[in-house]
Amino acid sequence: LDKKVRQNNWEENNFINYKKMSENLAIVRSRLNRPLTFAEKILYSHLDDPHGQEIERGSSYLKLRPDRVACQDATAQMAILQFMSAGMPSVANPTTVHCDHLIEAQVGGAKDLERAVSINKEVYDFLASACAKYNIGFWKPGSGIIHQILLENYAFPGGLLIGTDSHTPNAGGLGMAAIGVGGADAVDVMANLPWELKAPKVIGIKLTGQLSGWTAPKDIILKVAGILTVKGGTGAIVEYHGPGCETLSSTGAATVCNMGAEIGATTSLFPFNDRMYDYLAATRRTEIGDFARSYAKELREDEGAEYDQFIEINLSELEPHINGPFTPDLATPISKFSEAVKANGWPEELKVGLIGSCTNSSYEDMTRAASIARDALNHGLKAKSVFTVTPGSEQVRATIERDGQLQTFEEFGGIVLANACGPCIGQWDRRDVKKGEANSIISSYNRNFTGRNDGNPATHSFVTSPDLVVAMTVAGSLHFNPLTDKLKDKDGNEFLLTPPSGVALPERGYDPGQDTYQAPPADRTSVTVQVSPSSDRLQILSPFPPWDGKDATDCPILIKCKGKTTTDHISMAGPWLKYRGHLDNISNNMLIGAINAANGEANKVKNVTTGEWDAVPAVARDYKKKGIKWVVIGDWNYGEGSSREHAALEPRHLGGLAIITRSFARIHETNLKKQGMLPLTFADPADYDRINPDDKVDIKCTELAVGKPITMVVHPKDGAPYEVKLNHTFNESQIEWFKNGSALNTMAKAHK
Ligand code: F3S
Repeated sequence: LDKKVRQNNWEENNFINYKKMSENLAIVRSRLNRPLTFAEKILYSHLDDPHGQEIERGSSYLKLRPDRVACQDATAQMAILQFMSAGMPSVANPTTVHCDHLIEAQVGGAKDLERAVSINKEVYDFLASACAKYNIGFWKPGSGIIHQILLENYAFPGGLLIGTDSHTPNAGGLGMAAIGVGGADAVDVMANLPWELKAPKVIGIKLTGQLSGWTAPKDIILKVAGILTVKGGTGAIVEYHGPGCETLSSTGAATVCNMGAEIGATTSLFPFNDRMYDYLAATRRTEIGDFARSYAKELREDEGAEYDQFIEINLSELEPHINGPFTPDLATPISKFSEAVKANGWPEELKVGLIGSCTNSSYEDMTRAASIARDALNHGLKAKSVFTVTPGSEQVRATIERDGQLQTFEEFGGIVLANACGPCIGQWDRRDVKKGEANSIISSYNRNFTGRNDGNPATHSFVTSPDLVVAMTVAGSLHFNPLTDKLKDKDGNEFLLTPPSGVALPERGYDPGQDTYQAPPADRTSVTVQVSPSSDRLQILSPFPPWDGKDATDCPILIKCKGKTTTDHISMAGPWLKYRGHLDNISNNMLIGAINAANGEANKVKNVTTGEWDAVPAVARDYKKKGIKWVVIGDWNYGEGSSREHAALEPRHLGGLAIITRSFARIHETNLKKQGMLPLTFADPADYDRINPDDKVDIKCTELAVGKPITMVVHPKDGAPYEVKLNHTFNESQIEWFKNGSALNTMAKAHK
């Protein structure tokens, strides 16, 4: 294990550390003294402190040291801007950025890419220059979708990766624990802070038998989603094991892991096997494959490892499934699908079939899909529905172009889109139906929530394997079952489509296609990060000011929120996402969705200095201008929802001091601390009711100490002041974050 094996073919100095991992694991083994799951092995071998770390599945918080960070272009903007504000010369851990989310599908690959490059120029220029400056690998627009690029280049068995995108778990197809996180977590790891994760539970899924005919790897996760539902994997890692695993290609396993995000799982994993070795070899990483073989014992579960939940699936009996509409856990086997369409009144005509995306665009997927299209063409048939193909990477696109599948798709009537997310993330200028018109589409993607693909809430979006997408596209109807239903060829003769056949890996090797990677230059000192001062999409962040060392007195309550206040209420998405790299502009959405307890309305609060009612961000800006610190009062589970760091950055930017609630969603609470805010909770939740939106408060910041409550003095408009005790969860190092103004300021200080 002493060998120096590089993590990938792009970076000279980043190595796979199986030696350190096995040492850490030995320490944890001697403490726990029980068989471990594969998921546990990966996590525990990446512990910051394997000796001292408390380890209890489902309850302790693990401090981890991931091997890598990956960001997509939408989430990378704020992550990098924050990282820059720490003033460090380069990222502390290997990091890559991938341009895939901002490319809109309109007419086809090359043209759409060209348009996106011009529309998003300032974002791409910023990311390219910042990556060059801070030693980050940059994958240009057109290179492909983040998860496909990670699988092809960066994933390795036993590694730990965090990525700022929900489908990061895709890399589980190569036995890597790859976890989707928010930007704030990515920044921590870039800046060398340990990364915290609640020790996940482990769901074991045993696979037996072998897939055949029309059943594809996708059907495993479609079935699992039906069993576990969209919430069933929350707080857990899904670990596949058993003899069926070996029968799946590495890319097929990646599909299964990818869509584990749809059941809320932390990540999904397959054990290292020969199929993974073959994929590593095919992607020019034989050395990694060999190295993994020498560590193979630890790249799978121990004999007798115990799971918190157990499911068994016999692949030989698994039927093809179609899931949806509107939710990915509504699983229907193909034999029952036509009935379900009728019973539910789903629009029967299939308008569009879409294959590809990060979920399903491997060489295997493409060859299988093309075999069906070819079979149809041989019978004189083409796609009846609109048909689109999104290659997951330039490498896959170039390879299927060389090997002819791409031409088959075009002959079949397909439009080949850019190597990017496109319609999967709503980047789709769809023209064939009007907004509001009920219609059906079917894709090989992973998510099918209302409006996700085309912004039309009446679109019934179904997800399935690429095989079924192509077959249904031939028929143009949701009633078609290719296993049993015959089609008519050009002469009117009936025939059954031949079940798909494909190859896992290209016989002639992959064609890398165009060079779409930008390595950081050796001399990075002369690189300037490009941000136009007049930009409305990007803004350099200045470090937040440190605490003034004093108690805060007479703070107004900006808003007393009533009921649910999610991160969507605090920092809305939709059109605001355009400004996610511009803190001042996006702050105009701060708390505009929260309901004011004073009047039951959203985005209408009283400015106590003028007596006027105004929008929440406007009032906050006015207080800030006048040098007045303000607080927010919140209800239960404040900040639930996503890990969106903007929800914590915005109140800090607009001059907030403390958020005082009945309780917090944990991730938001931590995000607030990271930005130098005070998340505090009422020691007596009933005190929430005593506070009037017109009251002013003193916060005794000087009392902040580990495990001790803080005093808040409430000054009612009419009446005598009274004291309220507030709890907090700051530890020693987090208190430094508050004192220094933010976690990043603290890191920056340590570096000087
Ligand atoms: Fe992109 Fe859709 Fe995957 S948005 S990263 S292709 S889930």
